[in-house]
Amino acid sequence: MAAVIEAASAVQTYIDHVNPRWAQLLRVLQMDTEYALCSGVELHTTAGDVILDFLSGYCVHNAGHNHPAIIQALHRELDRRGPAMLQSHVPDLAGELGGRLCRLAGGKLEKAFFASSGSESVEAAIKFARATTGRVGLLHCEGAFHGLTCGALSLMSDRFWRGRFGPMLGDTAAVPFGDIDALREKLRTKNYAAFFVEPVQSEAGIIVPPPQYLSEVKELCSRFGTLLVLDEVQTGLYRTGKFIAAHHFNVEPDIVILAKALSGGLVPVSAVLMTDRVYNSVFDSLKRSIVHTSTFGENALAMRAGLATLDVLQREDLGVQALEMGVRLRHRLQEELRDYEMVAEVRGLGMLSGIAFRPPKSLGLRVAFESFQCIHPAMFGQVIVMRMFRDQRLLTQMCGNNFMVLKVAPPLVVSEEQIGTFVTGIRQVIHLAHHSAEFWTEAVGLAKRTVNI
Ligand SMILES: Cc1ncc(COP(=O)(O)O)c(C=O)c1O
Repeated sequence: MAAVIEAASAVQTYIDHVNPRWAQLLRVLQMDTEYALCSGVELHTTAGDVILDFLSGYCVHNAGHNHPAIIQALHRELDRRGPAMLQSHVPDLAGELGGRLCRLAGGKLEKAFFASSGSESVEAAIKFARATTGRVGLLHCEGAFHGLTCGALSLMSDRFWRGRFGPMLGDTAAVPFGDIDALREKLRTKNYAAFFVEPVQSEAGIIVPPPQYLSEVKELCSRFGTLLVLDEVQTGLYRTGKFIAAHHFNVEPDIVILAKALSGGLVPVSAVLMTDRVYNSVFDSLKRSIVHTSTFGENALAMRAGLATLDVLQREDLGVQALEMGVRLRHRLQEELRDYEMVAEVRGLGMLSGIAFRPPKSLGLRVAFESFQCIHPAMFGQVIVMRMFRDQRLLTQMCGNNFMVLKVAPPLVVSEEQIGTFVTGIRQVIHLAHHSAEFWTEAVGLAKRTVNI
């Protein structure tokens, strides 16, 4: 009883002092669950339920929640009482992690810069690209997600994220993902320091590019003196089956950005991997040796988390697992969902998949769907997510810049049985959407609850 009261007052304190809107939204979506313990793919609630995580904190939990080996490594690091946050020594763990990351990424990537978040690493990459090329302009793709700090946000065209926060960086431009002609037109102006691109677009709707796209991009970037920056914040660390998704496409970037999963889900850490040319353009004298830094960047606990995470991902062969299980997952979804008219496609790479929905053609469904759209374009997806959570005990989310694609990204340790549970669960929810008025009336209640806040 005491624990329940404590939890309730902790929620109230969050509402009072952190982000009441977020707490309210979760309540409206009936997702305001409290968790007692998270392990692997399983989220155990204080009420005694088990929810399966098919979101992974947006590709943070590649190694699974609270992996015992990562926890043990962090305990040891703390017990060692070594130099942490000294800011006056050469951190050996940063060297070890930097070396491992560069070797795994391959190509000409020789140096690593460490920070604490994906956005912070995108900011660093913007500065490094400008210093390397002496140019100001930055290119990115439509629908991209690169982070919410002002520089990163300047590389995103979606108005929802940018509204009220401008002005953004000048001299940025967007091209459609996969459109090599549009890119060539921009690059030939020679205005652009870098082209930022996710090798597989995540929040745009899990979009895998045509096989030759990225190698053609690289060729064009080299020809016109623009750096190729791959944002592998979601796709890196074996999420798509290879260490970085670039390895599927035979492309050698000038800069790679890693974050999320490098943390082991426990200690924030991000990295910018770069060529020596890029490094030397920034740090070319002793005077400039700390011209770009971040206080927490190379801290021992974060570096240890990165090293322990790599150990787990490699020892458990989770890249191979992601590749094999990802194919099986998509195959099973395609089989189970093919007769539903609102399912347009199941697509993805490795353990990063999307179920793309489309507006229905049949009259009855179309009326219901269009009224959903009038309430809010995200309403259909949110009812799917809510039902998956509440009725099927499966945690999912729609893509942030595409409300018609459900992201399917469990930890890479997911089992065949858990995949089976997911496939059955999503089929039941989609079946309901096609055959039961109850699915659609739910939205009216949801809309009323939302409007009342
Ligand atoms: C592809 C991509 N890049 C960058 C970021 C920003 O990372 P962070 O939230 O750690 O700042 C995200 C966050 O979701 C992302 O998905």
